[in-house]
Amino acid sequence: MRLNLRVALAALAGLPAVLSSRPNIIFVLTDDQDTHMNSLDHMPLLQKYLMNEGTTFTKHYCTVAICCPSRVNLLTGQLSHNTNVTDVIPPFGGYPKFVTEGYNDNHLGLWMQESGYNTYYAGKIFNHHTVDNYNAPYVRGFTGSDFVLDPTTYQYWNFTTTHNGAAPQTFLGTYSPDFTAARAYEFLDEGLNGVEKDNTPFFMIVAPIAPHAEVILYPTMKAGPPSSAQRHQHLFRDYEIPRTPNFNPEEASGVSWIAQQPRLNDTVIAYNDEYQRQRLRSLQSVDEMVAKIVKRLDDAGQLDSTYIIYTTDNGYHISQHRLHPGKECSFETDINVPMVIRGPGVPAGLVKDAVVSSHTDIAPTIMQLAGNPLRPDFDGQPMAVHEAVNSGPEHVGTEFWGYAIPEGKYGYSGKYGFIDGPAEAHPNNTYKGLRIESARYSLYYAVWCTNERQLYNMKTDPYQMDNILGDTPKKSKTSGPASLLLGRDLETVVDRLDALMLVMKSCKGHACIDPWRQIHPRGDVNSLADALAPRFDAFYERQPKVAFTSCELGYFPDAEGPMDYHVFSGGVLDHIREQLPLVDPNWSLWT
Ligand SMILES: *[C@@H]1O[C@H](CO)[C@@H](O)[C@H](O)[C@H]1NC(C)=O
Ligand SMILES: *[C@@H]1O[C@H](CO)[C@@H](O)[C@H](O)[C@H]1NC(C)=O
Ligand SMILES: *[C@@H]1O[C@H](CO)[C@@H](O)[C@H](O)[C@H]1NC(C)=O
Ligand SMILES: *[C@@H]1O[C@H](CO)[C@@H](O)[C@H](O)[C@H]1NC(C)=O
Ligand SMILES: *[C@@H]1O[C@H](CO)[C@@H](O)[C@H](O)[C@H]1NC(C)=O
Repeated sequence: MRLNLRVALAALAGLPAVLSSRPNIIFVLTDDQDTHMNSLDHMPLLQKYLMNEGTTFTKHYCTVAICCPSRVNLLTGQLSHNTNVTDVIPPFGGYPKFVTEGYNDNHLGLWMQESGYNTYYAGKIFNHHTVDNYNAPYVRGFTGSDFVLDPTTYQYWNFTTTHNGAAPQTFLGTYSPDFTAARAYEFLDEGLNGVEKDNTPFFMIVAPIAPHAEVILYPTMKAGPPSSAQRHQHLFRDYEIPRTPNFNPEEASGVSWIAQQPRLNDTVIAYNDEYQRQRLRSLQSVDEMVAKIVKRLDDAGQLDSTYIIYTTDNGYHISQHRLHPGKECSFETDINVPMVIRGPGVPAGLVKDAVVSSHTDIAPTIMQLAGNPLRPDFDGQPMAVHEAVNSGPEHVGTEFWGYAIPEGKYGYSGKYGFIDGPAEAHPNNTYKGLRIESARYSLYYAVWCTNERQLYNMKTDPYQMDNILGDTPKKSKTSGPASLLLGRDLETVVDRLDALMLVMKSCKGHACIDPWRQIHPRGDVNSLADALAPRFDAFYERQPKVAFTSCELGYFPDAEGPMDYHVFSGGVLDHIREQLPLVDPNWSLWT
């Protein structure tokens, strides 16, 4: 009976029929790993054991390019405007905000545990999870846990952890990513015991701090490249960050504070190249860990019953767009992140480069793989991990609130004080973004709290250097703005993108998955291409436009302009709406 139920659940989840019990799931989450400086190319074991044996999703995105909000997104399947955990520290974020928003009683670890999994966590979970608040309350939902704690989370050689909720212990002279790996092997053995003993599957999250910057908070804040283990220090001597067209460009790019960035000099460039070398060295510990986890699973006969998902919380830039090392930006470097999955039924050696997926899809994906029901408050949907075909959604909504904080030593000027230290934190880094990708078009659209807008046609401008909506638009190389895409002119396209952003910026649940359906409830418009039909031109022209009233450090909907949008109701009713605006101005808002 029990077995049959499992088979039925497996069938529902699209699992291979051979899998008669629920699979184990291991989620490896690095910290600030890039794809655009090709970090995956420098992880040979990850390539051998995960990429060659599984599927790589090259169009995978985080929805908020900073650690804690992104990790909450991962653990809840909800966008940040719904979790309202939008920063790394209180009042807008950090572990205390995760708790006060009720998520310590309502997250992926707990759901998996309640569905009969043994659950484990090793490494960093959130920012501002500290030696003082780790037990107030404890993180719920994990059968076994070992969390690195602030204020020493980002010290590679002298850090503090709490093991299964015990009093914090400090480890001096141990390399943090190796320590996290060692804890992961212990939990893995526990998990494998459970499988052996009574067929209890396990779910394990392993979150080493590599390749995050080394940050020492006290007595004075210092940030710099990550440290590496001695055995990796000799590597990558000749590595240089790829000199792509957006690498320290002659002309400034972007908007808001980014457009003010001076060009980096040779001293900074040399420092930045070494910075990335250190990141690659620190990732070698993670690379070795991946291989060891695979080997242990194989030895235990569980490799074919285990999914391994590899990603990071957010991307990273170093020198692109003249930026000092850091994240928090809306460029592709910061939001497009590594994503690899191997496991039963997942096509081996496949690269999916046309399907768009995001971190909001991870919790639904894991729940579905475990045969658990999807939650109605998920803002994402399971990724089609078992399918070889390259089709799927075309949009991801991104968002950000607050500061951008450079992490290299040259990014500091002491102009804006932050976290007891001299980091120059750039305000006005609040924005909404929309990434659209299909076989026919590839666009990035953003509206900032300064009401500056960005639009890149990434088919012709993959490095995001030519903001079509900038003050001084440069001539596009191939197709000029006159006919942006599918034969439609710039304003026509922007009207559609803006309407889609209007839906995405406050969407909940299914509306985030199927935003066009919110505007076109008949279901005849499911993509930007569909929405571009000329018969909708007047309708889209009339939509309220995304516009901020001020730059805030957290989520205050009042500062973020219109929330409601018109619903297309077939022309006739649409016309009536204009005739009778005073009867009920809300009549068309079917949200
Ligand atoms: C988000 O959290 C902040 C800080 O607690 C609060 O001031 C703000 O009102 C919240 N926003 C929403 C939409 O709940
Ligand atoms: C290591 O960390 C502990 C706790 O944060 C601190 O008290 C100690 O001074 C540090 N030791 C060294 C050598 O940095
Ligand atoms: C290069 O730029 C950095 C950061 O602005 C500055 O501190 C340094 O003095 C400059 N070096 C040279 C040689 O100009
Ligand atoms: C932030 O944006 C506001 C509104 O555009 C502007 O008035 C202010 O000067 C900006 N602040 C900084 C530090 O750039
Ligand atoms: C329209 O809807 C908004 C949001 O639900 C509400 O605050 C407002 O009072 C409504 N206006 C009218 C005239 O019903």
